[in-house]
Amino acid sequence: MTDQSAGDIDIEKFEVLLSAGQIETRITEMAEVISKDYRGKRPLLIGILKGAVIFLSDLIRSLTVPLEIDFIAVSSYGDATASSGVVRILKDLEQSIQGKDVLIVEDIVDTGLTLNYLVENLGSRQPNSLKVVTLLDKPDRRKVKFEPDYCGFIIPDRFVIGYGLDYGEDYRQLSDLRVLND
Ligand code: IMP
Ligand code: MG
Repeated sequence: MTDQSAGDIDIEKFEVLLSAGQIETRITEMAEVISKDYRGKRPLLIGILKGAVIFLSDLIRSLTVPLEIDFIAVSSYGDATASSGVVRILKDLEQSIQGKDVLIVEDIVDTGLTLNYLVENLGSRQPNSLKVVTLLDKPDRRKVKFEPDYCGFIIPDRFVIGYGLDYGEDYRQLSDLRVLND
């Protein structure tokens, strides 16, 4: 349909970087590896709000091991695309992670500051193990050394939207990952 009602978002102007199908296929592959690595365990997946909710919900439906989920929210450096480097916990976990096999689930690693902070913070709570899975990685933008344990796609230094990722809270609902034109 080309005749959209007034107020609908015009997604056609944003180039598709990864289609919904490509994302789905890759998540199935990642889930196979992760299920194998956690066989015999019951990992606690911690989704980083809000960007990772779509990825987490698709990922867990492809995992075959029993699991739990929880969420944590950290400051997102304001509504802009630039990172200030200050990380703060806005909403903490509901439970202790002591002795648990924790897998942090993130949408995208950019400067690395968020995960660098979270790995240190959650690591100090004595989990049995602590790993990170990210759907996307923009290694060109790193400000601190950080390497995810599992990564869906390495992408170029472009600001992307959709599949949970936002620009000023918009566009999280898109099924494809698209590039925000500047
Ligand atoms: P980092 O701390 O710089 O690694 O940033 C991670 C967070 O910045 C992600 O969880 C996203 O919320 C946000 N972010 C970084 N790059 C993008 C992007 O291209 N699109 C949307 N959000 C992004
Ligand atoms: Mg995020």
